[in-house]
Amino acid sequence: MRGNGPEAPAARTEITEAEIAAHWKEESLLPPPPEFVSQANMRDPAARERFSRERFPDCFREYADLLRWDRPFERVLASDRAPFYRWFVGGRLNASTNCIDRHLPLHADKPAILFQPEPAEAPPVAISYRELHRRVNEMAALLRDHCRLVAGDRVTIHMPMVPELPITMLACARLGLVHSVVFGGFSGEAAGRRAADSGSRVLVTSDAFWRNGVLVDHFAQAEGAVVAAREGGQEIDTVLIWSREPGRSLSRTPELPGRDTRIDDLLGRYSGRTVEPVAMDSEAPLFLMYTSGTTGRPKGCQHSTGGYLSYVAGTSRAILDLRPEDVYWCMADIGWITGHSYIVYGPLALGAATVLYEGLPTFPDPGRPWRIAKQLGVGVFHTSPTAIRQLRRLGPEEPRKYGCRFRLLVTVGEPIEPEAWRWYYREVGGGRAVVVDTWWQTETGGILCATWPALDAMKPGSTGPGAPGIHPVVLDEHGQEIPAGEGRAGNICIPHPWPGLMQTIWGDPDRYVEQYFRKYNRDPASKDWRAWPYFAGDGALLAADGYVRILGRVDDVINVAGHRLGAKEIESACLMVPEVAEAAVVPVADELKGRVPVVFVALHHGVTEPPGEVARRVVLAVETAIGKIARPKAVHVVPDMPKTRSGKILRRVLAGISNGSDTGDTSTLANPEVVERIVAQLQSTRPATKEDGPQETEGTP
Ligand code: WTA
Repeated sequence: MRGNGPEAPAARTEITEAEIAAHWKEESLLPPPPEFVSQANMRDPAARERFSRERFPDCFREYADLLRWDRPFERVLASDRAPFYRWFVGGRLNASTNCIDRHLPLHADKPAILFQPEPAEAPPVAISYRELHRRVNEMAALLRDHCRLVAGDRVTIHMPMVPELPITMLACARLGLVHSVVFGGFSGEAAGRRAADSGSRVLVTSDAFWRNGVLVDHFAQAEGAVVAAREGGQEIDTVLIWSREPGRSLSRTPELPGRDTRIDDLLGRYSGRTVEPVAMDSEAPLFLMYTSGTTGRPKGCQHSTGGYLSYVAGTSRAILDLRPEDVYWCMADIGWITGHSYIVYGPLALGAATVLYEGLPTFPDPGRPWRIAKQLGVGVFHTSPTAIRQLRRLGPEEPRKYGCRFRLLVTVGEPIEPEAWRWYYREVGGGRAVVVDTWWQTETGGILCATWPALDAMKPGSTGPGAPGIHPVVLDEHGQEIPAGEGRAGNICIPHPWPGLMQTIWGDPDRYVEQYFRKYNRDPASKDWRAWPYFAGDGALLAADGYVRILGRVDDVINVAGHRLGAKEIESACLMVPEVAEAAVVPVADELKGRVPVVFVALHHGVTEPPGEVARRVVLAVETAIGKIARPKAVHVVPDMPKTRSGKILRRVLAGISNGSDTGDTSTLANPEVVERIVAQLQSTRPATKEDGPQETEGTP
């Protein structure tokens, strides 16, 4: 793929999302309802003491103690190789037994997964812990005996939201295989590039799924994945296909004998088989999750078994208030980190029932989520600001119609504006539920900032203070801490490690150090964690009361509807179109999705193709390389890019033009006249391409 070569230093958009982010006025505090407090897991104010700075790192023992260890750990934290950390050193455990087997004595017949298919008439399907145990064991036997996979091998999973997705993940975990789930909405090509990076020779996929009333042929993506993997130097020799309806093929794409196998055709051989779970070192990687950064190449965030699982179990208990009797629904997609941590691993580690919904929240109408929640008895509900805005816009009165009783409402993925927050609180929660705004990242494994639901008051538009044991700071460009309440924005950092922090970037430890720790490192030779604050890449404000307001990314990551897309990745895709000489992608504010990508392209000299045709190809190239989720809101074919004298494209200027805001100082440009021309072009013409209609929301991050 072009544009993947050595990167120029992160071409800062400068306007950054922080600047164009809405600046809401400071809201007043709302106490949590007493009915919530009286039943909450973490209602004892002594918890603050237990998780105070002075108790670091031992406080996290409380999280690790939620798990069953095959061999107890000897040390909570080894930081002698900072910023590479090892948590719960010496311990051994298996993630699948922690999420399944240990619940069997008390909860075998309780639902573990409640699957709600999208078709409106389809009833929910309950999978008990006993059944989950059987299905995970059979799949593990298949992966071990048919695919000959052994602990440490990587498996790429490219699947929609069906129960077979967590079943496959847990089967991998049972064997110590490292799963790498790629969001089902990404293209096959995107999945294949990630498979190559991780070195997976097995791809697990599905034939089809329902989305927005349409049966989507998902298996059609597999060939592109195999080809892209091969181009990346990785042969995929086995493609395993789950059938959406067992015994039937819902995909029209031909299968390649020898490479492609229907899982249903094989599972019979492993019927009733149990597989001895492999006791893994606490530091053994559990999974990789690729995420976008400042370069065109996605990063494989590597998460550990012991630290990660402890952290998601602990935060699911403390912040999501989950316990075994809960029915909990997180409307994210398992293909993103939120789904890994807070649909699969956290809730199942605690023995709760986790709801998995196949389709679009607004299908067939915006009352659907509330009907599902009522029917399944959901008490804790979790979604993104984009979904909240969408449900509010399309069905403001809907939540009240169905009589849901939520006790806790969670949001994640983007800043939520106070207006949307209040609708969530009043209309969805009826003013009886606590609303928690959680801030964190793929890299961080679990929640870093949130109000502690029974102990902190809520503040619309702010995520909370640090989660238990997390003590965030906001630093200025020189590494000085900006005091709380000063009203100055800076970079949010975590000055200490925590168990959910990724271990490294797969195959690229230097990039891990460079990206997250170099900026504020005080001494590169230091092996003390105090020298290595974690740089999150988000702008933030710290209020006098210690609550954090996240302003948005300070790099080239565009947060579209809570999904992270790299501007550089989209630009690389644009450059695949032969007529395109240069491409720049900028985030533009959007009422529903927070931000959307807008593309500017300049064409090679002498290209005679009509701009509309080039724009169409650019859109297609982006959809092929990344997926529909990255489809630009508009493609502008411009005569030239605004550039510095050294030839760097000034994205800040393009973003300013697109957002109708200030373009900043343009006097240093090599070609200031081009700014006028682009402004005139955008004002006089409709964009060369517009989306064909309202784009769908892709669930939550
Ligand atoms: C943004 C998703 C404001 C932020 C869990 C972060 C948020 C990026 C919030 C990570 C929030 C996430 N308020 N912004 N509550 N939560 N973000 O890796 O910019 O998909 O850096 O992880 O989403 O996105 P990611």
